Parts: sequence; structure tokens; C-alpha cells
Amino acid sequence: MKSVWILVCGCVLLAACSGGGNIFSKKQSATAILAPTKGNSVSGTVNFTQKGDVVVVEAKVSGLKPEGTNGIHVHEKGNCTAADASSAGGHFNPYSSQHGGATGEVRHAGDLGNLKADANGNAQMSIEVSGISLGAGPNSIAGRSVIVHAGMDDLKTQPAGNSGARV
Ligand code: CU
Ligand code: ZN
Repeated sequence: MKSVWILVCGCVLLAACSGGGNIFSKKQSATAILAPTKGNSVSGTVNFTQKGDVVVVEAKVSGLKPEGTNGIHVHEKGNCTAADASSAGGHFNPYSSQHGGATGEVRHAGDLGNLKADANGNAQMSIEVSGISLGAGPNSIAGRSVIVHAGMDDLKTQPAGNSGARV
């Protein structure tokens, strides 16, 4: 089976981008390992599975603020080398759209909405997203990064939902 390494950064993910997280793709699925950025302790895994025209995104993240809400997105560049993950660039936006949520007409392809943490700072999310793919082409997320933010994505403020630092 052909394997492709995808770098995930993320603010959460990438943990910082410190090594970066790696999105490991096996054709129809890919995984991003989230590592904390400097001064944070967020970690986790985000799995992407192609299902027809949509991609199922399953995230399991820990180290978040208890009961907090945290924006999560696929960012443009698979570069998590900066301590604050700024090297990951902005939201993955192959169609030059406005920022939005995980669903709806107006959204960046990389917009995944928010994670909602429980009392222990753990969050799980499973959603189906359109506009991205694991294959080739302009909307492929292979080699890009996943970032978790310190605050809530309001799903409307441009260009990034005002979700704060990359954790
Ligand atoms: Cu982001
Ligand atoms: Zn966005």
C-alpha cells in the first residue's frame, strides 16, 4: 500500500509544531498527531477518512481548558516548526472563500468548527466535511497541518474566527 506522510501542525497538532505532527496517509485515510506548541499541553489525534465525496473527521484531543471551546482547522502549510505554529500559515482555503464553520456554503475548506472539552479537558468530535479530500488535486489536505486554538471559533469573524493562539 502506498504511504504518504502528511505534516500536521496544529496548533494543536502540530504540536506545536515542534516536530510537527504527522498526518500519515494511506490513500483513503490520514492521521494527524497533535503536539503542543510552546507553553501549552494540548495533544491528540485527528483521523481523516474519505467517504465518497466527504471526509469523516474524528478528533480526540486532551490537555484543553476544562469545559472550554476550541477552534480547530486544517491550515495551509504542513510546517509546524515555529514555537507558536505561525509557520502553518492561514486556514486551508483553496477556493478563496470567507471563513465559516464546518458546514454551510461560506467556509474555508479547512474550517472544522470547534472542539468542546469536558470537565477534564478532553474533547472528542466526529463530523463529515466537504470541500477537502485525501487524494490529489487542489483540495487535498495531504501534507498540510491541523491546528487547535486556545479559544472559540465564532465561525464568522474574518479571517479566522477570532479563536486565539495556536495551542
Ligand atoms: Cu486554526
Ligand atoms: Zn477559516
